[in-house]
Amino acid sequence: MIRQPKLINSLSPYIPGKPIESVAREYGLDPKEIAKLASNENPMGTPQKVKDALHEAIDRVYIYPDGGAYYLREKMGEKFGIGPDWIFFGNGAAEIIEMAAKALLDVGETAMYSQYDFAMYKVATYASNHRGVEIPAPGFHLDLDAFLRAIDHTTKIIYISNPTNPTTTMITADKLDHFVEQVPDHILIVIDEAYFEFVDNKDYPNSMKYILEQGRKNVIILRTFSKIYGLAGLRVGYGFAHPDLLFMLGKVRSPFNINLLAQVACTAAMDCDDHVKASVEHVKKEKAYVLRELDRIGISYLAEEGNFIAVNVERDVVPVFTEMQRRGVIVRPLHGYSMPTWFRMSFGHHFENEKFIRVLEEVL
Ligand SMILES: Cc1ncc(COP(=O)(O)O)c(C=O)c1O
Repeated sequence: MIRQPKLINSLSPYIPGKPIESVAREYGLDPKEIAKLASNENPMGTPQKVKDALHEAIDRVYIYPDGGAYYLREKMGEKFGIGPDWIFFGNGAAEIIEMAAKALLDVGETAMYSQYDFAMYKVATYASNHRGVEIPAPGFHLDLDAFLRAIDHTTKIIYISNPTNPTTTMITADKLDHFVEQVPDHILIVIDEAYFEFVDNKDYPNSMKYILEQGRKNVIILRTFSKIYGLAGLRVGYGFAHPDLLFMLGKVRSPFNINLLAQVACTAAMDCDDHVKASVEHVKKEKAYVLRELDRIGISYLAEEGNFIAVNVERDVVPVFTEMQRRGVIVRPLHGYSMPTWFRMSFGHHFENEKFIRVLEEVL
């Protein structure tokens, strides 16, 4: 029998939100009737310009993509005011999280992340056969002072999502500025801003300044095309960082990790500001509706920032989640995050959010 390394063996695989098709099959439901609110996707879908560009590109998929994603890199450089060689791509931001662990953790070194924070940080660390250090998060807020106190000679990577998935909490600019200053420069800080576009808060950090103004080589800022651009199915995430750091990550990148259609789609998405704006407005409006309804029903939640909220049903969430699924609403139970009475949901079309409220009331 093959023996797996102990750390990898102890890992539970990441469980994504259930696909509509499998819920439809399992419960004999019409897929069109199912509201999937489990994966923080964009109900506005994919911008038309992107779909047109994809149609045009389909005849070219017999050739390999450009491994360096030249056009996409140039376009993003212009858009975000950053040199093209300061941009790094992953098959989803999730792949960059993994590449950081693979590329940087040496024997005996560890990565640090917060209790309740995005599950991929632990998965990436353990999957590269390294130990992770989880820092308690009292009241669901990341405790950056506790991170600083926990740093020791083994610490090599610190993963932080801001706003934090699934708890919605936000680290303010003053706290993050202080933290980044205190962390020694041989430790990589991964600032994961997957939900950056949905944040509407003047205290949100301008993390680009850590790399562009302060020239730090130990910070990478992660973002994604999965959420705001409605391209989750194409799997493209990106990181901004100093080229010296990206050179190191590039050593463990597989040559064509961003496929040809994904490159075309993301390049076209750079011209879709109207879609971004409409998506942000939709989430704002629907979030307000759902929160009003949850207040009316008397259910507590976390809803600081982002296109998702965490809801506390104050009982075992698994039967609640299962019953909601049977009625055609898919949310994400958070028992795997040590939040056994909570689920996370994002916002669908208004009729889906109405259905969510109706089903939740029926089930509770
Ligand atoms: C905080 C956070 N980071 C990264 C990701 C991964 O995004 P991607 O689809 O780009 O892999 C997610 C996805 O849910 C997320 O919530």
